[in-house]
Amino acid sequence: MSTYLITGAAGFVGSALARTLVESGERVRGIDNFVTGNRENLDGLLGRMDFRQADLRDPDATALACEGIDCIFHQAALPSVPRSVLAPEPSHRSNVDGTFNLLEAARAAGVQRIIYAASSSAYGNQPGLPRTESMRPQPVSPYAVQKLTGEYYMSSYWQIYGLETISLRYFNIFGPHQAPNSPYSGVVAKFIRQMLTGVRPTIFGDGRQARDFTYIDNAVSANLLACHAPAEQVAGRVFNIACGAAHNLEDVYRALAHLTGFEGPPLYGPPRNGDVVNSLADITAAKAAFGYQPTVGFEDGLKRTVQWHREEVALAAAGDTASRR
Ligand code: UD1
Repeated sequence: MSTYLITGAAGFVGSALARTLVESGERVRGIDNFVTGNRENLDGLLGRMDFRQADLRDPDATALACEGIDCIFHQAALPSVPRSVLAPEPSHRSNVDGTFNLLEAARAAGVQRIIYAASSSAYGNQPGLPRTESMRPQPVSPYAVQKLTGEYYMSSYWQIYGLETISLRYFNIFGPHQAPNSPYSGVVAKFIRQMLTGVRPTIFGDGRQARDFTYIDNAVSANLLACHAPAEQVAGRVFNIACGAAHNLEDVYRALAHLTGFEGPPLYGPPRNGDVVNSLADITAAKAAFGYQPTVGFEDGLKRTVQWHREEVALAAAGDTASRR
């Protein structure tokens, strides 16, 4: 039986992977430093997995976390394009140094495979949609450079050391458990929570920027498929993980307003520095190499996500009522 390590296990994607693996009876270790991870994401999991608070910037803690591990899902990162624009150094330390420390620890511990959460931001604003993995990366923001650096390290460790590394370029993953309350939150989570609590969302730019929004279950299944694919088909390679359909922010706003019952137009603000304008994936490579197939589409994903946020808002309101009694 394999033992899996999930970095960023209390984060949005990491905790979804942890839940799926734990519920299938797998042996899971998780680490998180709780900088952006959330303890509530581990509800129901803590007694069923080996969870350790640890930071990838600490090489000793990282080495301990890798002992006895067969496969790593490397989800830990300090996310967000605007965060990296405002302060590139902390995200560099987490995303580049942290990834490097993990690769070194994995190599020393004899880990077989690492699946790395790469980012669609690597493509930047070059012409040509959909994005295919053969395009030359043209990262714009520090975050995009950091995530791409991780990909290059992954590929190097396969070629030089034979560590089976796979980079999955996520295209704007959304779904339950994605944090909604930070200025750096993903737009879907942020807009839903704002709409459900009567706050008018702001669109940065003209709202025509488009994203290949991808529901969390698709990202989880991509990781599991990549984990079990034969090395000769996946090792050292990069794959787009998306749905293969783009939706602009105006459309997202309209769809969410309809689902949440929010009335009124958005506010508009200046475009974000470092923002990518259009993003749409070609997902042929992941389909061919490991049978990836998006199973939950955009509209269905939005419905499920709105439902989860409704429950969270209701729980918070009930908690408030209880505390006032
Ligand atoms: C980027 C990456 C994504 C990665 C994420 C990590 C691209 C194409 N995608 O997402 O793969 O997972 O970083 O953080 O580079 N917006 C508003 N109002 C808001 C918040 C956001 O209009 O209140 C806009 C942004 O300006 C952007 C779009 O919504 O145009 C999406 O933003 P966001 O959800 O933060 O993700 P990206 O930066 O696109």
